[in-house]
Amino acid sequence: MVLSKSFWAKYFKTYDVLNKVIPYNELIEVLCTKLEIKKGDRVLDAGCGTSNLSVRLEKLGADVIGTDYSLEGLRIGRSKSPGIKLLQNDLNINLPFKDCSFDKVVSCNTLYLLPSENLTSVFKEFYRVLKPGGKVVITNLTGDFKPYKIYFNHIRKFSIKYGQLKTIISIISLIIPTVKMFYYGSYIQKNSNQGFNFFETNDQQKLLILAGFNNISPPTKVFASLGILNTAEKL
Ligand SMILES: C[S@@+](CC[C@H](N)C(=O)[O-])C[C@H]1O[C@@H](n2cnc3c(N)ncnc32)[C@H](O)[C@@H]1O
Repeated sequence: MVLSKSFWAKYFKTYDVLNKVIPYNELIEVLCTKLEIKKGDRVLDAGCGTSNLSVRLEKLGADVIGTDYSLEGLRIGRSKSPGIKLLQNDLNINLPFKDCSFDKVVSCNTLYLLPSENLTSVFKEFYRVLKPGGKVVITNLTGDFKPYKIYFNHIRKFSIKYGQLKTIISIISLIIPTVKMFYYGSYIQKNSNQGFNFFETNDQQKLLILAGFNNISPPTKVFASLGILNTAEKL
């Protein structure tokens, strides 16, 4: 069973609490750094969710287009930046963009949610829409996904940065959204292997090779070591 749009609409009521969570902010920053954004770069954010990354890329001067199949995600994204370019699109079908039309393509923690038999063509679509010299940056959650690890990593880093008292206040203020996040995270975990799969460490690398990419980086751990990141180029 692939997760439904109504699942995401419910999850998105709580999802943006992640903006207060250090490992998620670090992930967004790593993606922006790896993308090496130059002013005016045309960037596709595939599976943009509530547009946290798209909005950040826009602030860095990118001409970004965020796509997602959840209209609720796009609605929340638009409320953050009314002029942002967002488009409803199911990644299981070919992208509605011309060949060689983007400088960069990024996808954050989305592709593992697609049926694995569709992934080769999704990566080929990314290759097709990138300009020669363009770059792709991909992260996905791995089989080690345990939602509580994000929370513990946040608390550890927060207490180092702000001290114990502020950490206790932060924990109390985040209790309700954290419980909800654990619920949705566990739901995703329980439903994996039923239409979608968490990635293995080398999965992205293999898919990037199959799609024709060059200069593929080795996988690096991100997001409290629950995700893997690869970059690659279209020569
Ligand atoms: C975990 S969220 C990640 C959102 C965003 N990239 C982020 O990092 O905050 C996964 C996203 O994948 C989207 N998604 C799932 N299946 C999809 C599909 N077939 N086509 C497009 N988007 C899809 C969901 O709607 C959701 O926004």
